[in-house]
Amino acid sequence: MRALVVYESMYGNTQVTAGNIADGLRGDYEVTLVPLAEATAELVAGADLLVAGAPTHMHGLPSTSSRRMAAQAAAKEGSGLRMTPGARGPGMRDWLKDLGRRTAWPRPSTPGSTASPRSPAVPAAPSPSC
Ligand SMILES: Cc1cc2nc3c(=O)[nH]c(=O)nc-3n(C[C@H](O)[C@H](O)[C@H](O)COP(=O)(O)O)c2cc1C
Repeated sequence: MRALVVYESMYGNTQVTAGNIADGLRGDYEVTLVPLAEATAELVAGADLLVAGAPTHMHGLPSTSSRRMAAQAAAKEGSGLRMTPGARGPGMRDWLKDLGRRTAWPRPSTPGSTASPRSPAVPAAPSPSC
């Protein structure tokens, strides 16, 4: 069984959490841990379990504006905040939207199999108003 752990992280906290989750899964799964920028459709299609994590920004998933705010906060002198190398990559919000739009993920072919492509489960997007 394969597990894919995907994370978005500005300052590294979610990255650490994702790493801990990946470590916890290793007894039962063959685990791949990647930042969003490296989470290809092929990796998703090959996973039996998908774990997706992102920081809470303004009570929800990071948005373009909250990601900008995070970068601005880190750029302030003396903030003590450091952006992770992948922080300027794609965001979980858009990645999940794209994931939901794809109805025909490529499935690893099995000889003799006629199984139709599957669509991964996508959690409901948080309310933008909270
Ligand atoms: C713009 C912005 C908005 C945030 N909004 C929330 C929030 O609504 N609730 C909360 O608990 N934390 C909030 N946080 C704190 C982050 O969730 C927290 O710092 C998190 O550990 C960052 O994860 P990261 O290091 O993976 O980027 C916010 C941080 C930023 C930069």
